[in-house]
Amino acid sequence: MSGYANVRRIRGLIEGLDRYTATPGRGTTRLSYSPEYSGARNFVAAEMTAAGLAVREDAVGNIFGRIEGSDPELAPILVGSHLDSVPNGGRFDGPAGVVAGIESAFLFREMALRPERPIEVVALIEEEGARFDGGLLGSRLLTGQLDPALLTELRDEAGISAAEAIAAYGLDPAEAGRAVLAPGSVHAFLELHIEQGPVLEAEGRDIGIVDRIVGLAQLKVTVRGRAGHAGTTPMNLRRDALVGAVAILAQLPDLARAVGADAVLTVGKMEVLPGGTNVIPDLVRFSVDLRAPSEAQLTRLIAMTCDVVEGGSGHGLDCQVEHQLYVPPTPLSPRIGAALTAEAEALGLSHRVMVSGAGHDAMIMAGLAPTGLVFVPSRGGISHAPEEWTDYPQLARGIDVIFSTLRRMAGVSVPEPAGRLQS
Ligand code: GLV
Ligand code: MN
Ligand code: MN
Repeated sequence: MSGYANVRRIRGLIEGLDRYTATPGRGTTRLSYSPEYSGARNFVAAEMTAAGLAVREDAVGNIFGRIEGSDPELAPILVGSHLDSVPNGGRFDGPAGVVAGIESAFLFREMALRPERPIEVVALIEEEGARFDGGLLGSRLLTGQLDPALLTELRDEAGISAAEAIAAYGLDPAEAGRAVLAPGSVHAFLELHIEQGPVLEAEGRDIGIVDRIVGLAQLKVTVRGRAGHAGTTPMNLRRDALVGAVAILAQLPDLARAVGADAVLTVGKMEVLPGGTNVIPDLVRFSVDLRAPSEAQLTRLIAMTCDVVEGGSGHGLDCQVEHQLYVPPTPLSPRIGAALTAEAEALGLSHRVMVSGAGHDAMIMAGLAPTGLVFVPSRGGISHAPEEWTDYPQLARGIDVIFSTLRRMAGVSVPEPAGRLQS
């Protein structure tokens, strides 16, 4: 197997980033603006600098590393992904794409390639929404899809607003509006990501070229009842918010099944207050994550979910839904898909076109610039879990596709592949 990307260096970058976790030994937990995130930011900035990139950070913590073009006036190609993680997640979800950008920069430097068009490696913040509901915060802000004023309203579980977290991280949230990228200011966005599903591994393929990302919505359901004494309140006089919430929740999986085979619905987070063993709960909040391939399916699933929640009101309970995120199904650029496919082909890699069931910064960046997304295989299809794994040579093949496409799109000549340096 020959190729460009350096497996040992890629592994060093992934493992180096993975030191910044709040849960060592129990997966990667790197919430945005946390001490672990600061460590990862410093690591990335140092590696970008070592790769010859000029590093800057915007007001919300998106990191950019630029390779200047011989024509600096041309709109840059952006390449990257996110650095934050879910709680107890894996080391590849997000970092794989950031590392793809940094490794590509190392390759440009080692091969003394000077692109005509600038290239910017990006490490985006708060994609997962593990700290502030909704997620995709960095990319939504960059593309003007999130009003910076909302940074004072979004709150984490401790009640800290995104604006406060940004200030504590050492940035000025009042400047967030300046992070917005003007239409036309980005030539293209490329992202590499692990597949997070079983298809590539099952088919024995190296590369997935994503042509479409499913539609995604997130809701927050609040059920209000009345607190009371667990020992003295007869069953027929209770207004138990948790019993009401569970009755709603129990109906939700069937809604996704009714909408269609590829629709999915997940309740992953629930808060029960006041949270005493001998206290009847008066407030329950839970998240609902809904995804479907077509917009008609997604809107139907959202409407059915809202109906079920509203049907939970009465008998002393009040049930409300808040809409936190809605991203319709997103087609990616056929032109970039063709360019990625041509490079995979030229590298002798097996590939297929596929749909992404996971959300990605790519689906937001696609609103700003033609966007391409490359998948590499995930062992056992597992992701958002500590067991998440991609073999480093497999990641290297994906990075070869990104590097070759960048080189082609940015306008530099094409040397022959060298033997790959193995770890
Ligand atoms: C991101 O990982 C998502 O699909 O929620
Ligand atoms: Mn993820
Ligand atoms: Mn991800």
